[in-house]
Amino acid sequence: MEKAKNFYFDISHYYTLNHHINVLKNVIKKEGIKGFLKRIKKHLYFKYKRVDFSPENIFDLEVKGDNREKASTYHAVLEKPFLEILEKIKEYEPDITKGAFLDYGSGKGFSLYKAYKFGFSEVIGVEFAPKLYQISMNNLKKLKVKNFKVYLEDAAHFSPPTNVSLIFFYNPFNEEIMQKVHDKIVENRDKYTNSVYIAYHYPICKEIFDKSEYFEFLEEAYCSFSNEITRIYKLKDLQEA
Ligand SMILES: C[S@@+](CC[C@H](N)C(=O)[O-])C[C@H]1O[C@@H](n2cnc3c(N)ncnc32)[C@H](O)[C@@H]1O
Repeated sequence: MEKAKNFYFDISHYYTLNHHINVLKNVIKKEGIKGFLKRIKKHLYFKYKRVDFSPENIFDLEVKGDNREKASTYHAVLEKPFLEILEKIKEYEPDITKGAFLDYGSGKGFSLYKAYKFGFSEVIGVEFAPKLYQISMNNLKKLKVKNFKVYLEDAAHFSPPTNVSLIFFYNPFNEEIMQKVHDKIVENRDKYTNSVYIAYHYPICKEIFDKSEYFEFLEEAYCSFSNEITRIYKLKDLQEA
């Protein structure tokens, strides 16, 4: 099967010993021995809780609908850049956690878990691979996350809940699906009860939001730990767009 060229994450190297050694070296270099020990502690905690956030190749998974070729593969967002993004958004909207956090392509639920720990009143995921959906449900229950919902659905057909305040994308799919998702978000804009922000991490299809008359571009944030960027947008008020 031909792999998509730009948005697809090739994770085959994740399973090599070399990769693990490089990750550990990078952690020690950037976070010191303390950071390294913190990682080991977290790893042991997840093992003890029997939760699973390991990567999965999208081509090994069944999905709902026929958009698998347009999907990125699963791996969880890194904790450090993710928390930096949440802190950054809070600078724009100090009350952001009063609304709901929504992750399009929520995988095994890592961002949902972290967003809950960050203080969001509700965390919501949409995931189209039944295996990942089921693992995320187990993970979130074992980690005692309260007030979460995960929908087993193709993101292209999903309408955001009215209480959403932050929408998160971690390079989940290609332009075709992202355009449909954009249109659904916009279609419902008279129903949202909070200001709605978007954090688009690894923003391969950024043009869709850059060119959209409904979104205001706020900032491109850079994480030096992972060399990843995140673009932040705000849905314009009804009278502005
Ligand atoms: C890079 S992973 C991100 C995982 C998660 N957001 C995180 O940050 O930990 C992309 C996820 O998007 C999901 N996905 C891709 N296309 C989708 C679609 N059309 N509908 C729902 N989920 C989709 C994949 O199955 C995968 O779990």
